[in-house]
Amino acid sequence: MTRTLIAGNWKMNGLVGSLTEIERVAAAVAPSQTGPEILLCLPATLIHPAAAKAEGSALKIGGETCHPKEKGAHTGDISAEMLKDAGATYVIVGHSERRADHGETDAVVASQASAALRAGITPIICVGETLAQRDAGDVLNVISEQIAGSIPSEGAADTIVVAYEPVWAIGTGRVANSEQIAEVHGFIRELLTKQFGEAGRGTRILYGGSMNPGNAEEILGVAEVNGGLIGGASLKADDFLAIYRLA
Ligand code: G3P
Repeated sequence: MTRTLIAGNWKMNGLVGSLTEIERVAAAVAPSQTGPEILLCLPATLIHPAAAKAEGSALKIGGETCHPKEKGAHTGDISAEMLKDAGATYVIVGHSERRADHGETDAVVASQASAALRAGITPIICVGETLAQRDAGDVLNVISEQIAGSIPSEGAADTIVVAYEPVWAIGTGRVANSEQIAEVHGFIRELLTKQFGEAGRGTRILYGGSMNPGNAEEILGVAEVNGGLIGGASLKADDFLAIYRLA
């Protein structure tokens, strides 16, 4: 049975004082082998102290990107090994904001996911179309290309997570409707079973894009949705826990 994953992405938000929100989430989620998983992906400055706060709870901590290399002359970058050393067990790669702001191509994303696997943490590989691509009727071609180019050859069905984040739904309050989500998640599932065989049916596919306590139940009920990747609604413990309790 695929465990639902409720993941938060704080993006470039959170100071040391924000650790109180993380403490509140950790205090509310007891360790469980069967219930939904809960994860907060944080700015690098917060990962180590957050992992300490989460110790002994069900809350997992992740990063928001990683460099493909293990170490070296890459000023300002963070390696997957550093994330793991700081207590991260997941890392988001290929978020549309990084693809846009940093020109991260599918090949770069695949190398980052490969680095995560090398370090022993789980990559959450983000794919999603822009509004222009949706309006042009290009959604499935875009997703197919991103999946083919962003999953590294050594990736396996149970060592990666995929997140579908329609770019036009991120931070806009304009969430994709159930039909749109079902179409793309169903298509991604087909691609994953082509790539990994029957095991591909177990790869978790998260939805991200304006998910909140008011729409989470409907989204989580859509076929092939195995959890959420939540931005704004993960910044406050109450909202994030409200979504987790719906999973
Ligand atoms: O990675 C999740 C993020 O892109 C979604 O952001 O604020 O629309 O939930 P938001």
